[in-house]
Amino acid sequence: YRWIVCLRGRFASHAVCIHLQNSVVFVCGRLFELDPELLTLFHYTTNCGSTQDCLSSPEFLEHVTKVMLVIDAAVSHLDDLPSLEDFLLNLGRKHQAVGVNTQSFAEVGESLLYMLQCSLGQAYTAPLRQAWLNLYSIVVAAMSQGWAK
Ligand code: HEM
Repeated sequence: YRWIVCLRGRFASHAVCIHLQNSVVFVCGRLFELDPELLTLFHYTTNCGSTQDCLSSPEFLEHVTKVMLVIDAAVSHLDDLPSLEDFLLNLGRKHQAVGVNTQSFAEVGESLLYMLQCSLGQAYTAPLRQAWLNLYSIVVAAMSQGWAK
């Protein structure tokens, strides 16, 4: 078991620990409710018979795991986010190359918040939501900057 995304300290009073695998499945499901077209950007999902098939494709789950690991890295570098800048600029550039629109990053963020809301129930407070939004916005700002270069 690997637990990730523990956001603590100055941004929020609650520590939040979410199981990686559960969160991956949840974020994926929500993302494609918001925008099913996104599936077509993953070249390996072209032969999927249904959204459900795609969501269970190993490469696809691997990508969302990569997303969560980036978030995890951001959380563990909260005190030193500039050290991730080159990585995130480059990541944004890669997404530009594979045809991902920067607007889609926002949908990933919404899915992430939705997952937190569902997992945390009462503990999902306005300041906690804001803390996650702040963190995710920093990640996306750097990726979008790289995307536009
Ligand atoms: C790679 C699509 C959002 C992190 C990729 C690839 C595709 C893709 C097609 C290359 C194939 C693969 O590795 O599966 C998308 C789409 C997104 C999205 C459609 C939005 C809906 C994000 C976000 C993050 C992220 C928000 C991180 C916060 C990564 C990473 C890689 C990757 C770490 C691997 C890059 C590498 O190989 O160096 N993405 N992505 N993606 N994506 Fe995304």
